[in-house]
Amino acid sequence: MPDSKQFRKDAHRVLDLICDYFDNIESYPVKSPVKPGDILKQLPGMAPVTAESLDTILNDFKTIIFPGITHWQSPNFFAYFPANSSFPSLLAEMLTAALGTQCMKWETSPAAAELEEQMMHWLKQITGLPESWQGVIQDSASSATLVALLSAREKQSGYRINATGFNGEEKFRVYASTETHSSIEKGVKIAGLGMENLVKIETDEQYRMHPAALQKAIENDIQDGKKPVCVVATLGTTGATAIDPLNAIAQICQRYQVWLHVDAAYAGSALILPEFRDMIDGIGMVDSFVFNPHKWLFTNFDCSAYFVNDKEVLLQTLAILPEYLRTRTQGQVNDYCDWGVPLGRRFRALKLWFVLRSYGVQGLQETLRRHIILAKKLEEKIGRHSQFELLAPRTFNLLCFRWRPSDHVSPEKLNELNERLLHMINDTGKIYLTHTKLSGRFTLRMLIGQTNVEERHVDAAWELIQQQADSLESV
Ligand SMILES: Cc1ncc(COP(=O)(O)O)c(C=O)c1O
Repeated sequence: MPDSKQFRKDAHRVLDLICDYFDNIESYPVKSPVKPGDILKQLPGMAPVTAESLDTILNDFKTIIFPGITHWQSPNFFAYFPANSSFPSLLAEMLTAALGTQCMKWETSPAAAELEEQMMHWLKQITGLPESWQGVIQDSASSATLVALLSAREKQSGYRINATGFNGEEKFRVYASTETHSSIEKGVKIAGLGMENLVKIETDEQYRMHPAALQKAIENDIQDGKKPVCVVATLGTTGATAIDPLNAIAQICQRYQVWLHVDAAYAGSALILPEFRDMIDGIGMVDSFVFNPHKWLFTNFDCSAYFVNDKEVLLQTLAILPEYLRTRTQGQVNDYCDWGVPLGRRFRALKLWFVLRSYGVQGLQETLRRHIILAKKLEEKIGRHSQFELLAPRTFNLLCFRWRPSDHVSPEKLNELNERLLHMINDTGKIYLTHTKLSGRFTLRMLIGQTNVEERHVDAAWELIQQQADSLESV
């Protein structure tokens, strides 16, 4: 194995490769064009018996791996929600990898635990979340939501399910809108609550949960002898970034004593902008809340911030203390392995610290506002175009639209045309968009929020979308 002298040389080579990558990122096809199995068939079936040189490995990285990469850090990436990185975050990731700490207990790296505590405090401050809350970094919003569902299940059952398991009689009900993210369904499955106990609540014309429908569903369930345990409200739905009316939902949860979890995976970052704080009106009645700095706060995947109103419920639900994990500081410090599912934990707070300090709150605010302005400008252009239509109101920086070449095309045909258009756009390799279905309509989703996206990228993307639509029309 290389000594540190050799490692220094190797690391410089890799660093050069990284910098070249960012310098040339716009020249690569944004969405990888490879076919299923293309990469696999180039990989040897067996691990090498003898050591290989870095030259050989890096060469294979360039020729085998690289073509199979979809470039999430490209400013021409407009798909899904972003998984943004930034140079400060990358630097911290290097240090995290070098330290290789396993941050399960305070003692296994006190600085990691205390930095995490303070970073969660900073995030609360800059987003306007309640001062009294406690926070922890999870790997993903999916994990955080699972933990919220487990906590709700345990609190509502008096911690009985943890102790004795389900007896088959319980009808614990979870409520979320029809626009909710699939991670809620997954959490319901894993928590053993049963998919038939996930009640999907209808939304209004702007894809926001209907509080009246929620109240009715809860009342019906109570009358049927079922037990409402948790409501999941979404701030920034995946389809259209709709904002569920939190205050109204929270009041219903209070009335019926139901746990309220907020999934703000994407839009939570927008809370650093005071002009969006009204979306957390009613936050004092919320039990748990998650948002992902790894989406729109320039912190490398993975980093999900999970906050709870009452940390004792979380600890009572998850904490386990085998002899080999007993420490002298037990109970005096935060042992974060008790705040989530995995025992082992990466040192994720470091990259958040680097990002928050390197950008400063103002720098983050400016970047988010820049993204929102770019989206607003494009929204106006789409709105003016006679052959395109917006399919949902823009809340932040997501545009939902479709091509509608004439008024005489059937809904089915429109869906088919827009699906073809999406593939044609993505197959150019110049940009990458994804889709959703809103009210049964195939919808092009364009999220303008990549770390380095500029007006020229958005303009070129819009040109390309129109060109591809024209060429589809002439087919
Ligand atoms: C609203 C919402 N919730 C949850 C998630 C899941 O996030 P994660 O990948 O961190 O589990 C997403 C992913 O995009 C999302 O849009």
